[in-house]
Amino acid sequence: MSSPPFPVLPPGFRFGAATAAYQIEGAHDEDGRGPSIWDTFSHTPGRTLGGATGDTACDHYRRYREDVALLRELGVDGYRFSIAWSRLLPQGTGPINHKGLDFYDRLIDELLAAGVSPAVTLYHWDLPQALEDRGGWRARETAEAFARYAALAAERYGDRVDRWITLNEPYCSAFVGYAEGRHAPGAEEGRGALAAAHHLLVAHGLAVRELRAAGAREVGITLNLDRIHAASDRPEDLAALRRAETLHNDIWTEPLLAGRYPLHEAETWAGLADGPWRLPGDLDLIGAPLDFLGVNFYRPFTVAAAPHRVADPEQRTAVDIGAAELDPYGTRHTTMGWPVVPAAFTELLCGLHARYPQAPPIWITENGSAEADTVSPDGQVHDPDRIGYLADHLTAVADAIAAGVDVRGYYVWSLLDNFEWARGYDQRFGLVHVDYDTLVRTPKDSYHWYRGLIAAHRART
Ligand code: NOJ
Repeated sequence: MSSPPFPVLPPGFRFGAATAAYQIEGAHDEDGRGPSIWDTFSHTPGRTLGGATGDTACDHYRRYREDVALLRELGVDGYRFSIAWSRLLPQGTGPINHKGLDFYDRLIDELLAAGVSPAVTLYHWDLPQALEDRGGWRARETAEAFARYAALAAERYGDRVDRWITLNEPYCSAFVGYAEGRHAPGAEEGRGALAAAHHLLVAHGLAVRELRAAGAREVGITLNLDRIHAASDRPEDLAALRRAETLHNDIWTEPLLAGRYPLHEAETWAGLADGPWRLPGDLDLIGAPLDFLGVNFYRPFTVAAAPHRVADPEQRTAVDIGAAELDPYGTRHTTMGWPVVPAAFTELLCGLHARYPQAPPIWITENGSAEADTVSPDGQVHDPDRIGYLADHLTAVADAIAAGVDVRGYYVWSLLDNFEWARGYDQRFGLVHVDYDTLVRTPKDSYHWYRGLIAAHRART
């Protein structure tokens, strides 16, 4: 089967690959690492598919040299990875674990020696368990602890890191973790989740301050903004769309990019959002200018008005907003069950630009697809669907750029197959296949395709 032509991106556009600590590192109790909420959650029966945990994952903690060699061979400009907070500060705050600090020194130096620019995510969902025991993101203390952790990382690695991402997808931390309960810590709350959302934003603002003070190069945040469609033009479906946009997008973009709380929060949460956790000065802190906005995109969804699951607003979780998610797209689905709709990516980026023309440049910090990959008898992994997905989504990015959106680069999710959170190891997002019995890495056809794309881009620009 022939591969699709390489999408054409403008000169200066950068290509990378992304991962996250808990999803790849393993070595969960090695060299002084403290437990995180994902250790606790994944070790709780019934929380992850088949009881999967990140105890070993891809064993990247030991095999990072091999993984950096894969990046070098791939020819990427950059690599986005996350630091496990509890490797540096096993209790989240207090005593420093020097062996943990040393690991990321080694990783960063290895990347630089390979000519790969490091982009660090400070928080990719693995809150130190000790902080969860004191309230987790429901508590402002966690935001203050995060600021100290950010300062420590910035002081230690700031001379070598090109791009800092404070938080990855705070939507998932706040709402999948504290309202849906599908992610750690597995809570199903209303006010608690809304307080968590706010404290995540405060944590971001405090960390930006620390990063700036330490002279960090570029500072931003990664959001999973959603392209949401309404099921119809009926007023009730349009109102459901407004509530879904408040929950998924505006709760983040309004304070970060427009200096105000989301416009339709009373309609969305019946007064629960405006809680005592909001302090004077918070909006100034949260809205401090950024150097870039990271956007993760995978698929769109559609909403229709639906009854609340719980009638009493006081008893509802924060995701119970009277909207049902639909999938009317009629396209191919990835193994995650997500519809493949590349045009929605262009719509999202153009919509963001139209609404926030003053927003900083965008980096696509994640995009990719999970497919049913196996090593063939020929020793190769043939993944034409992933190649098609990447080609179409990069073309969608190129279309957005042509329409005037300032997108600077793209990190594919993911370098390696890895621990897909509650979905365990069944979902394979990697450009590189991982055999979880032997930990052998096998570059897939998509790896070779992406390598060719990067080489063609360099030759042309
Ligand atoms: C978003 C998350 O940041 C990442 O951890 C996850 O694996 C991918 N999406 C795919 O679901």
